[in-house]
Amino acid sequence: MTTLVISFPETKHLAEKVARGLKAEYATLSSTRFPDYEVKLSLDKNPRGKKVIIISSMAHEPDYKLVRTLLAGGIARDYGAKEVILVATYFPYLRQDRHFFEYDSFSSKHITRLFSEFDKVITIDPHLHRIKNLKILAKNFSHITTNPLIAKYIKKRFKDKFVIVGPDEESSQWSDPVAKILGRKVVVIKKHRYSPSKIRDEKTKASLGRNVIIIDDIISTGKTMAGAVELARKKGAKNIIAIGIHGVLAGDSVKLIRKHAELITTNTIPSRFSKIDISDVIIDKLKK
Ligand code: R5P
Repeated sequence: MTTLVISFPETKHLAEKVARGLKAEYATLSSTRFPDYEVKLSLDKNPRGKKVIIISSMAHEPDYKLVRTLLAGGIARDYGAKEVILVATYFPYLRQDRHFFEYDSFSSKHITRLFSEFDKVITIDPHLHRIKNLKILAKNFSHITTNPLIAKYIKKRFKDKFVIVGPDEESSQWSDPVAKILGRKVVVIKKHRYSPSKIRDEKTKASLGRNVIIIDDIISTGKTMAGAVELARKKGAKNIIAIGIHGVLAGDSVKLIRKHAELITTNTIPSRFSKIDISDVIIDKLKK
């Protein structure tokens, strides 16, 4: 079966790489808005009889990008694709993974269910906290991790002795395996969040040393990362690297983090900080 990789303009570079790696065709989705702001989408190649792989990063204006991605799946289905696979390099709404207050939205459940028309939805390092496996919410979901790529990047770039730090307990899903691959010490900080933008890091007793690499999945307001950077500084760290898998980079997060640390992200959400390319993990997964 012929494979057709399709994407929106912002993930074109990544999707073309994936298409090359799979020896597949590539096509672009373009969108326009009606005067009332509804979105209209069109694809520039025929998906009939093909395995269609849609690559979509749904950060920044997530509601618009969710709709756009759902429409892309609809086009592929209506025009006879044999199989429709979504690779969601960043899947939003996963942090609301239960009803926190009475009558509020359990967003991860409500949103994942909208994707039932896709044969498979492959997410990359989704935010798994209270729900440990997205299949609990939607059977067609699975995930892959960029941990080996992050470890490879660190190994290539940083030769000095360093400690890996996880800025909160959930981040141990990334900090622990990366430290294990590299054979380095890992310290996970305890964090308390009072509101979406107000958090405090409880002081950790472990020593961190001069060189510190902090790893987290999402950098949104940057408060979690900046809190960990601050703690590392107080403990005497001189060289601090802040690695986020998904650089949502809302508000003044970049300024906040870069005050005392180098900021590095993967290209699940492409930006000028995307130094770690994830195309290989996508290609490997899709070849299986
Ligand atoms: C939450 O636990 C996540 O793993 C991240 O730590 C969090 O989303 C980062 O958000 P912010 O940058 O707004 O502190």
